[in-house]
Amino acid sequence: MTTKDDFREAGNPMFNDNKLKLGVFGTNCSNACAITLAESTFEPTFEHNVKIARQLEEAGWECMVPIARWRGFGGPSNFNGVNMDTFTWAAALSAVTSKLQFFSTTHIPTLNPIVATKMATTIDHISKGRYGLNLVTGWFTPEMEMFGVPMMEHDTRYEYATEWMEIVERLWKENGVTFEGEFLRVKDAFSEPKPYNKQTNRPVMICAGASGKGMHFTAKFCDFNFGFMQDMEAGTAWVKKVKDLARTEYGRELGTFTSCPVVVRETEKEAKDYYDYYVNQKGDWEACENICEVLQVQSQNHSPEMYQKFKERFIAGWGGFPIVGTPEQVADKLVTLSGTGVDGALLTMVDYNKELPFFNERVMPLLKQAGLRS
Ligand SMILES: Cc1cc2nc3c(=O)[nH]c(=O)nc-3n(C[C@H](O)[C@H](O)[C@H](O)COP(=O)(O)O)c2cc1C
Repeated sequence: MTTKDDFREAGNPMFNDNKLKLGVFGTNCSNACAITLAESTFEPTFEHNVKIARQLEEAGWECMVPIARWRGFGGPSNFNGVNMDTFTWAAALSAVTSKLQFFSTTHIPTLNPIVATKMATTIDHISKGRYGLNLVTGWFTPEMEMFGVPMMEHDTRYEYATEWMEIVERLWKENGVTFEGEFLRVKDAFSEPKPYNKQTNRPVMICAGASGKGMHFTAKFCDFNFGFMQDMEAGTAWVKKVKDLARTEYGRELGTFTSCPVVVRETEKEAKDYYDYYVNQKGDWEACENICEVLQVQSQNHSPEMYQKFKERFIAGWGGFPIVGTPEQVADKLVTLSGTGVDGALLTMVDYNKELPFFNERVMPLLKQAGLRS
């Protein structure tokens, strides 16, 4: 079995000694994670992504995680309507960087497991082991129905995903794989090269499954569970729950990652005013409504009441816990976040081009002083 130590020994950034690992989320898509019409210089172009990746590397961040998306969510912003493919995105970014970890987020039902294995392994080699898969099963019905087949029922999607992963895992280790499942069949299948890292035999695997089935799938196959935190108390409970599940049911160590929209400004007033501007004044509530409507029906991880309460959070950063304030306040909040036991956070910003340099210059040194990062 692949362990945390195998990845650590191989020098994979996701398993380094930093107590709170950091990444960015969604820069392959228009508006990334902020459902807003607020002005931004950020565009989901390869050039902007290279610029972001280089700044992250220089400041010692761990990873970039893209969003798997095939169509926008409507509203005046058509939120996420421009969305780069996450495999070719990761391959190209890996080729022009040397330290950062990249993920491809893949909708399992849209991709044959042999093709996925081959593409993932190829990027794993291009990046020299700085690569991973973020596994999603799909929840946005119009997006999944673009592929000409009805979307599977929620739990069936994870049963399908389980067969898919069983094939992928075997192809990473053996040749001549034959598999006959309820959903998938492969006959005498080969995939070479094998994964770059001979200790782990596979790239890093993450999944944001939040339902019972989703958490079991993650605990069985993945290295990290991604989840949103309503507050620190709920966050602490979630971290404990998934780690316990992985240990007791599957004898595995599971890490956790969350996601947070961040607004950091010289003064608290400036930060709060900007948060109010991009969320309350300029938020694309129509696109947000479209997302929440589908999620309520198709995903089991939230109650309708909670959706109402957290619509604002969706606009701010796709449901992540907002961190707003001066550099000192933001660093303090990240220390508190780390106190939940979470291993890392994907930070989302409205304008990465303008906000990331300020975060690196002013918040990063404070995180080092606080012992969260070396
Ligand atoms: C941090 C994070 C990232 C996610 N990224 C995507 C994505 O890129 N594409 C997608 O269709 N779903 C994405 N999801 C949705 C999850 O895959 C999952 O469906 C959701 O958390 C509900 O869990 P469940 O499937 O177990 O009900 C993401 C969720 C989280 C928390």
